[in-house]
Amino acid sequence: MNLDNNIMPNHIAIIMDGNGRWAIKKGLPRSFGHKAGVDALKDIVKVCSDLGVKILTVYAFSTENWKRPKDEVGYLMKLLVEYMRREIEDLNANKVKIKILGDVELLPSATKEEILNAVDSTKNNDGLQFNIALNYGGRLEILNACKNIIDDLKTNKIQIDLLDEDMFGEYLYTGKDPEPDLIIRTSGERRLSNFLLWQGAYSELVFTDTLWPDFKRGNLIDAINEYQNRNRRFGNVK
Ligand code: FPP
Repeated sequence: MNLDNNIMPNHIAIIMDGNGRWAIKKGLPRSFGHKAGVDALKDIVKVCSDLGVKILTVYAFSTENWKRPKDEVGYLMKLLVEYMRREIEDLNANKVKIKILGDVELLPSATKEEILNAVDSTKNNDGLQFNIALNYGGRLEILNACKNIIDDLKTNKIQIDLLDEDMFGEYLYTGKDPEPDLIIRTSGERRLSNFLLWQGAYSELVFTDTLWPDFKRGNLIDAINEYQNRNRRFGNVK
């Protein structure tokens, strides 16, 4: 399938859903699904780099995911450490710059350390910006932005008259990043689950039944193709 290079999404965000179901379908423990999910992610990062996508944001762990069984949370935290250790060389070779969206302070210390290390090690790269939403929640992000804005108002760092949507956006984890053009959710679920609530106001949403571990280059191309056939009006008329 041919993509139109003139209307490529600059920022793609993905809710990588269905790891558990992928494993169960194969009669395997859920952890195998997460491991396969990391492999799928590794490929998609490379595909986005190759396609010249500017920003890829993935939902790796939500503020609600702490409710999962302790073993599963522990395994996900361990996978993150392994991913960073194993992939950092390739990510640097592809000039990928890692940014974290979410509160890393509450992560286990080994995970936090490895992640901050990866952020630091890739900070001067000028290729794909790879945002990993970790301990991320859209409502909490907006709430924290409000608290920080109130602090800055009290100390006269900003003036209320100048507070507009752009300035508000800069208080979010995404800072000055452009909003996602396309949000993809795999596994047949059709909701945002607290992901990029502010930033996704005008994103095109693409839902696919494919489970995340099965999501390959061709699936991403299909999603971008669907995006390219949408009519984006941003509230205007055409
Ligand atoms: C959703 O599947 C997936 C997650 C909650 C975790 C996503 C994490 C990864 C793909 C790996 C870790 C990330 C990095 C950056 C190394 P689910 O468990 O909700 O699946 P289910 O809905 O079928 O149960």
